Amino acid sequence: MNPSETIPAVRFAVRTPSREYPIEIAIGVTARLGSLLDAAGAPARRLIVSSPTVWRFHQSAFNGVTQHEPILIPDGERFKHLATVGRIYDALIRVGADRATSLIAIGGGVVGDVAGLAAATYLRGIPLVHVPTTLLAQVDSAIGGKVGVNHPLGKNLIGAFHQPLMVAVDPALLATLPRREFRAGLYEVVKYGMIASRSLFEKIVDGLPVLFAREPGLLVPVIAESCRIKAATVEADERESGPRRALNFGHTVGHALEAITKYRRFRHGEAVAYGMLAAGALAVARGALAESDLTALRMLITKMGPLPAVADLPASQALEAVTRDKKVIAGKLHFVLPTAIGQTITVADVTPEELTRAVEAIGLKSA
Ligand SMILES: NC(=O)c1ccc[n+]([C@@H]2O[C@H](COP(=O)([O-])OP(=O)(O)OC[C@H]3O[C@@H](n4cnc5c(N)ncnc54)[C@H](O)[C@@H]3O)[C@@H](O)[C@H]2O)c1
Ligand SMILES: [Zn+2]
Repeated sequence: MNPSETIPAVRFAVRTPSREYPIEIAIGVTARLGSLLDAAGAPARRLIVSSPTVWRFHQSAFNGVTQHEPILIPDGERFKHLATVGRIYDALIRVGADRATSLIAIGGGVVGDVAGLAAATYLRGIPLVHVPTTLLAQVDSAIGGKVGVNHPLGKNLIGAFHQPLMVAVDPALLATLPRREFRAGLYEVVKYGMIASRSLFEKIVDGLPVLFAREPGLLVPVIAESCRIKAATVEADERESGPRRALNFGHTVGHALEAITKYRRFRHGEAVAYGMLAAGALAVARGALAESDLTALRMLITKMGPLPAVADLPASQALEAVTRDKKVIAGKLHFVLPTAIGQTITVADVTPEELTRAVEAIGLKSA
């Protein structure tokens, strides 16, 4: 017997005011997708949206889910725009899709967000199912109901909330994921440890090589715990007014780094890794976080592998980008600070000077 078959499946419900839906995390769950869809009440007419890359690797895992040809869309960040959503509409209209049609998004965060926006808007909304295939999508983007695309003037500016009917997470699909993509997702898992679970943080520290080898024995519980943290935060706060803000830990500076390098230098998770270190430095400077906790975070991030360089990026540019960010509400920057490994607070009184020192601490160029 394959040892992975002995790893128990994890299943729980995500309860949001707009919908309650199951998420199942298990090696080989894709083989049971048809019956899971039936159990979740997914309309019998099922259309798959995926990308050529993902489909080439994994189409055999989805035999028998539908008779229809899959709708394949390109999945780089640069294709995450309305024209790609339009291609999905075209395909839906061509086959005469109605509200009794479910859309099954099989891919990374880009496929999930683009197909999700199509599902949220076609006929004012049709059922959506997520089968995430990157680590980032499995622990983050497939849960929570946010769907959307980029505009030439900014990322994720066009979107909606559309909760899925169910989420099926098969960590076996990650076997083909390039190492850098895997690592980029793992930084988000580190984030969950930092905001909510010291034990998750320690599992990553202790099991790093095992995780990189994608051994199901550790991968399944680590993904499951991440999903639970994301789900719990979304349940508490579906539309991101309060507790969901903790999920933005590392993202204020992270988004700024992505923006000033035109989304070309960093994988999102890599920028978040720098962002977490900057938030940590700021917290230590305020006396809100023990130096030893920041050191533990820094050691883990260093051990995970190289990050793209930042020494050529002026701190002042990062600062400007931060103030342009969506998280500035009514002129106030809401900043998530770590207070321990597994705990954060949100503050609204971070000064430009503190931020400057924090981004200099992670290596950006001072003026
Ligand atoms: N909706 C949300 O709440 C939410 C949250 C976080 C991120 N996001 C979005 O997610 C996107 C990033 O997602 P991503 O990191 O998954 O990137 P991605 O979807 O671009 O996938 C990364 C690469 O991995 C390839 N790939 C996917 N699955 C694979 C597999 N199993 N084997 C081999 N290759 C595979 C893809 O073809 C692609 O080249 C961003 O656009 C971001 O805005 C959304
Ligand atoms: Zn993120």
